[in-house]
Amino acid sequence: MQLRKVFILGSGLMGSGIAQACAQSGIEATLCDQREEAVEKALETISRSVGKLLEKGVVHGTKEEILSRIHKSSGLEGAGIDADLVIEAVFENLELKREVFRRLDRAAGPDTILASNTSAIAISNLAAETKRPERVVGIHFFSPVPMMGAAEVIRTSFTGDETFALAVDFVRRLGKHPILVQRDIPAFVINRINYRANIEAMKLVQDGIATVEDIDKGLRLAAGRKMGPFEIGDLVGLDVTHGALLSIYEETKDPSFYPPAILRLKVGMGHLGRKTGKGWYEYNPDGSMKK
Ligand SMILES: NC(=O)c1ccc[n+]([C@@H]2O[C@H](COP(=O)([O-])OP(=O)(O)OC[C@H]3O[C@@H](n4cnc5c(N)ncnc54)[C@H](O)[C@@H]3O)[C@@H](O)[C@H]2O)c1
Repeated sequence: MQLRKVFILGSGLMGSGIAQACAQSGIEATLCDQREEAVEKALETISRSVGKLLEKGVVHGTKEEILSRIHKSSGLEGAGIDADLVIEAVFENLELKREVFRRLDRAAGPDTILASNTSAIAISNLAAETKRPERVVGIHFFSPVPMMGAAEVIRTSFTGDETFALAVDFVRRLGKHPILVQRDIPAFVINRINYRANIEAMKLVQDGIATVEDIDKGLRLAAGRKMGPFEIGDLVGLDVTHGALLSIYEETKDPSFYPPAILRLKVGMGHLGRKTGKGWYEYNPDGSMKK
């Protein structure tokens, strides 16, 4: 058996990237969002990105063929969900995700696997909201999804072996290396490591020790990173990092994970990164960085 039809709830940065990755790998994907305009925007972004990847020869087939695998859904209720796999990619907020998992459990067929793309919330919290905890798993993608070569697959103590194996196979079919996370801890593996460094970088800026620009340049030019932590932070969204750090803090009560004041302030002011034109850096309307 293979997971062939995917339903994605939340059509922002990650939902749209996951749908694109599916369509490029021959997998049917349906996009859904509480805001219809988010789905429309996702379809435009995907169309542009697929065009570029075809030009570069990174992706094969025709644009029409790839885009024809992406469908729209207006909501969970009504027709229900006709899919082998549901991937939740709504805002990083525990209460919201809990409520969403209760709704997904009601709307999806009994065999459908429910997955979350959460950055940091332990998956067991979401599995516990359903009547199918053995069919709940974490599939954590990285941004930009069509470009990144790995995704984490997270097992809870309830996750069935078949569910885990199907999720791993799905990630492989997307052309990505599955990082197997054998125990359900907040923020899993890659973010656990990265957040430590990101918090340190934010505190160095907060304390006036070094600038955002110098830290990014330093890590690119002296530590072999492709992008600095603040460049990545703007791409990911400061609200996403903030929500993820709060989730880890709430679950572990480890104060070293509490979002630094400089991050809380920026999120409070609505400076969320590329999506709002301002975050650690400022951006022009065409997306280029202001000099
Ligand atoms: N941004 C990243 O780099 C990144 C990386 C890995 C994982 N994640 C995780 O993926 C998830 C989504 O992140 P994102 O960056 O795509 O966020 P985003 O803000 O770009 O998109 C979230 C979308 O969810 C929709 N939404 C919110 N509540 C909803 C509901 N009840 N029903 C339907 N749609 C709803 C919003 O309208 C929005 O379009 C978060 O859990 C985040 O932590 C993000």
